[in-house]
Amino acid sequence: MPGAEARVLVVMGVSGSGKSTLAATLADQLGWDLAEGDDMHPAANVEKMHAGTPLTDDDRWPWLDLVAAWIREHLDTGTPGVVTCSALKRSYRDVLRAPGVVFVHVAGDTGTIEQRMTARSGHFMPTSLLASQLATLEPPQPDEAHLTVAADRSPDEEAAEVVVRLGLQPVS
Ligand SMILES: Nc1ncnc2c1ncn2[C@@H]1O[C@H](COP(=O)(O)OP(=O)(O)OP(=O)(O)O)[C@@H](O)[C@H]1O
Ligand SMILES: [Mg+2]
Repeated sequence: MPGAEARVLVVMGVSGSGKSTLAATLADQLGWDLAEGDDMHPAANVEKMHAGTPLTDDDRWPWLDLVAAWIREHLDTGTPGVVTCSALKRSYRDVLRAPGVVFVHVAGDTGTIEQRMTARSGHFMPTSLLASQLATLEPPQPDEAHLTVAADRSPDEEAAEVVVRLGLQPVS
């Protein structure tokens, strides 16, 4: 995997892949800071989302800048952290990328993700949402500091794989 020591993990992937679950498990196991990228949207985006209006890339840049600010603050202060952000496009990841940042891509097959979305909401999700997410997804390339974890296991197994493969240390 390219990239030096991981200090901030960005847990990425399509909606319902299990980003929030894996990020929380990792932060818990490691004692690292945890944040939800979705909670960092500027007020204008929150209003749009409440109105059911899809966000455009122009809406996303100021949001990604706020996620990047969270990452930078952690890198600058030497505070390790985990943040969720779907980061589906390489251009989104470009905003977040920095030395010490590793993208953890939670990758699952359509069946696994559909099952999770259905379990979460209690009813079938429109498959069009997942299809559009998968169509937008540009998986991390070999030159990007990243790790792909298979989503079809328990959160503890996924987290253990990330910890071992990246050699992460809990904060003491
Ligand atoms: N490894 C796993 N095994 C079984 N169920 C899981 C696993 N990871 C997540 N889930 C379940 O799948 C559903 C979706 O997970 P989660 O909310 O973490 O996804 P997400 O990627 O954060 O979604 P969103 O993009 O909508 O925030 C939840 O109901 C969660 O409990
Ligand atoms: Mg989530």
